[in-house]
Amino acid sequence: MSESNVVDRSEATMEKIVSLAKRRGFVFQSSEIYGGQAGAWDYGPMGVELKNRIQRFWWKEMTQLHDDIVGLDAAILMHPRTWEASGHVENFTDPLVDCKKCKQRFRADQIDPAKLARKECPECGGELTDTRKFNLMFKTNIGPVDDGSGLIYLRPETAQGIYVNYKNIIQSNRMKIPFGIAQVGKAFRNEIVTKNFIFRTCEFEQMEMQYFVKPGEDVKWFDYWREQRWAYYAKLGVRMDKLRWHQHGPDELAHYAKDAYDIEYEFPMGFKELEGVHNRTNYDLTRHQQFSGKDLQYIDQENGNERYIPFIIETSAGLTRQLLMVLCDAYEDQKVADKGNEDDWRTVLHFHPTLAPITVAVLPLMKKDGLAEIAQEIRQGLKQEFAADYDQGGAIGRRYRRQDEVGTPFCVTVDYQTKEDNTVTLRFRDSMEQIRVKREELEAQIKEAIKGYKRA
Ligand code: GAP
Repeated sequence: MSESNVVDRSEATMEKIVSLAKRRGFVFQSSEIYGGQAGAWDYGPMGVELKNRIQRFWWKEMTQLHDDIVGLDAAILMHPRTWEASGHVENFTDPLVDCKKCKQRFRADQIDPAKLARKECPECGGELTDTRKFNLMFKTNIGPVDDGSGLIYLRPETAQGIYVNYKNIIQSNRMKIPFGIAQVGKAFRNEIVTKNFIFRTCEFEQMEMQYFVKPGEDVKWFDYWREQRWAYYAKLGVRMDKLRWHQHGPDELAHYAKDAYDIEYEFPMGFKELEGVHNRTNYDLTRHQQFSGKDLQYIDQENGNERYIPFIIETSAGLTRQLLMVLCDAYEDQKVADKGNEDDWRTVLHFHPTLAPITVAVLPLMKKDGLAEIAQEIRQGLKQEFAADYDQGGAIGRRYRRQDEVGTPFCVTVDYQTKEDNTVTLRFRDSMEQIRVKREELEAQIKEAIKGYKRA
């Protein structure tokens, strides 16, 4: 038996996902024509649609479906004191070592402790430097003079933009505790190790929500948000048996956190953090009050003007990391025939229809005999409701495969029967089942199928 027969072809490896992502326009290496820029990636036509849909899904979940959460879009550039108050200037560091021989740089906490103790390079056996602290924040300069007086950071998390706006939002929107503020935006970290595609990058996007609660009620809300965030992933349509909780042990817990759990996903390289749910206590607002000199206490008018600094429950997810998770989760090389050739297999992305970059593709069986015109007309109609694609190039089977590969959940085929009875074929991506549908019922049928979608 040849090796290719033994290997499980259906396994979703990172190599296959990276290759598909490039081939079909999900993710490209940044500045590829110059040899690429480490730690940065570009999202192509399919990728940007997928990213926008994940973001919209999260935003709807956190704001529209939670009456007590409002949105914010704070600037990336913040007053540098912010990062002193937050503890990032002092503590946002990785332990680093360099190899004097091969010049590679490593995170000391990711090297075999015995090798680290011997100062032995894990790659070439050369001598390692002493461990030193390396701050992950990117520094730049604001203003025309570059003498250090205009030092400014690219934000390493979106959370601080929420904390510094908490009073503004209470005042402008008459928010009452408990309430939350949600934000999606770019964050930057000078990561030393940026392998595994878009898993850990220097430029990425976060989807964070900070929930402000009365001290003493924090444990109740912490449990509530753990439940809510777990339920979110079920709605997102990913395989729940691939997810698990990881509670931070005493050595992992951030100095400000009372309790912290990560939701981890089983990526091709193993279980890795997807999102964190943290009880941050009143650390953040206390520190900002101290550093800014502004009173950040909440005045509880319904309880005799009681004053306190709220505790914060944070849910912090990476948007770009979630996109990688959705891609890995959706990917399947599926055997669909047994003829002994390449056509036996199809690559399919089982995206939830709400997330799929293209919802429906309209395909004329032939370009001639007026079929293309009818298909275009149908596409124009569907476009008002769905992301609708049109493809007339090549054999119909190939076109289905092309759509499967980018995760299009529905294909509509216009054939000669359409001209006779005004019906079309509606094909379902996952089952490959095809049904005959009246043209005027197409939109309703697709909507129904989206609503009732369950991944097999
Ligand atoms: N405000 C809390 C905070 O930023 P974090 O655990 O450092 O916590 C939260 O980051 C989430 O942001 C992570 O669970 C991950 O999904 C994402 N994330 C963090 N660093 C990242 C990186 N370098 N590249 C991509 N995503 C990252």
